[in-house]
Amino acid sequence: MTIDRTSYSLPVARMVADLRAEIAAWRKAGLKIALVPTMGALHEGHLSLVDLARTKADRVIVSIFVNPTQFAPHEDLDAYPRTEKADAERLAGRADLIFAPSAAEMYPTGFSTKVSVAGVSEPLEGQFRPTHFAGVATVVSKLLLQSLPDIACFGEKDWQQLQVIRRMVADLDIPVEIVGGAIMREADGLAMSSRNVYLSSEERKAAGQLNVILRETAEKIAKGAIIPDATREGADRIRALGFDHVDYLEVRDASSLASFPSGRVTAPARILVAAKIGRTRLIDNMPV
Ligand code: PAF
Repeated sequence: MTIDRTSYSLPVARMVADLRAEIAAWRKAGLKIALVPTMGALHEGHLSLVDLARTKADRVIVSIFVNPTQFAPHEDLDAYPRTEKADAERLAGRADLIFAPSAAEMYPTGFSTKVSVAGVSEPLEGQFRPTHFAGVATVVSKLLLQSLPDIACFGEKDWQQLQVIRRMVADLDIPVEIVGGAIMREADGLAMSSRNVYLSSEERKAAGQLNVILRETAEKIAKGAIIPDATREGADRIRALGFDHVDYLEVRDASSLASFPSGRVTAPARILVAAKIGRTRLIDNMPV
């Protein structure tokens, strides 16, 4: 197969060899290349990353691949929204190439390698989704090695993921600059996410308060409240909104994600939450 230049208003590569051929031509012309890895179902948060990439590079590739290895068997792999045509329309005039490989192209028969990042992968999401970050690290390392971009952009909404990727790139000497893009929020502050489409209207209303509680808890801690006291009160407030379960509400070192055993913030810190309402699990974070 060669690059599909007719289905959408920007070209789509589905095979690694085609992606590499296109990139080789850009490299020959001395162009700077950015990659924005996504799982599709693109919203304003993704588009802001594409626009950020555009300010830093001459050519922007957006990968669209719903990566099966980062979903546990009971998670929403099958239900995850797949909207390639709409995604391509949103990227028109913003990106230069879509890379949308099949699962067989990414994980051919016999595929046996796993990239696992110790330490930073282990707390928080790692406790609730123990296989998730190995799936993310494996696919992101493949995407980076397939395209060898100068920069790659990831959203700060998945803060822990961003730290896992930074650690992996440093540890494996992958020659790419990792750039984090700010969280994009709806009018009520709800962090944009492809999973927000699962929310009923009542759940959506409650979900809009999650960021308010996160901010107020962060402010209390910044003013001197003891971390476990403030996060316990914050988690109670989240449950009182109608959330079924708070997986975690924690304050951690912003890059190592280590906890603060003294109960006080002693280094640049982030407050992170994961909570479930109905069938939707939401995550959010902000600086303390
Ligand atoms: O953040 C995501 O959408 C995914 O985890 C990523 C980085 C594209 C890897 O599949």
